[in-house]
Amino acid sequence: MMSEKNIVWHEGKVTKKHRQTMNRHRSAILWFTGLSGSGKSTISVELEKALYVMDIRTFRLDGDNIRHGLNSDLGFTEKDRKENIRRIGEVSKLMVGAGLLTLTAFISPFKNDRDAVRSLMEDGEFIEIYVHASVEACENRDPKGLYKKARNGKIKGFTGIDSPYEAPDSPELFINTETLTIDESVEQILAYLKEHHYL
Ligand code: ADX
Repeated sequence: MMSEKNIVWHEGKVTKKHRQTMNRHRSAILWFTGLSGSGKSTISVELEKALYVMDIRTFRLDGDNIRHGLNSDLGFTEKDRKENIRRIGEVSKLMVGAGLLTLTAFISPFKNDRDAVRSLMEDGEFIEIYVHASVEACENRDPKGLYKKARNGKIKGFTGIDSPYEAPDSPELFINTETLTIDESVEQILAYLKEHHYL
């Protein structure tokens, strides 16, 4: 495929390892997955702030923002969600190569699509964080009023209502936002990162 297109991979002399050494921490993807309203964005924003204070280099990619730019051509069909996650996976891989602890907050409802991103990465570079709250809890929160619209038939194919969410079987981290506060959730992730020597 590659050679057919006359494209050859060119290695640089400054590697991911060099960048990690310069930053004094490892780089990886913190992949937040969960229903709309589960708390992915909120937790990733607070976690990023805590990491910044610790001099950790990060970047955050968030569904609602990325869909305004890079992925503004994509909707919510299964095919488009797949392409959404594929692009985010590739962009995140570049960011990990750049030495950043990369936080992504996308529903990413399909297991295959998340696993495809995992398989792009080296061992330990993909940390799947399942941000869990039941559909009922998310629907009660409904911060954007989207569950109401989905129930009224104004949005079709809404995750958790008439489109499936496939929960991870063995995520690196399980965050239950029905029982944990935001601060406790952030602490749980920081503890994991320290324990596994990312920081
Ligand atoms: S994903 O399924 O492709 O991973 P993504 O995280 O990028 O989704 O975008 C989800 C956000 O888009 C939701 O938080 C919500 O604000 C909005 N949205 C609009 N339509 C839908 C829909 N049909 N299902 C889920 N989220 C939707």
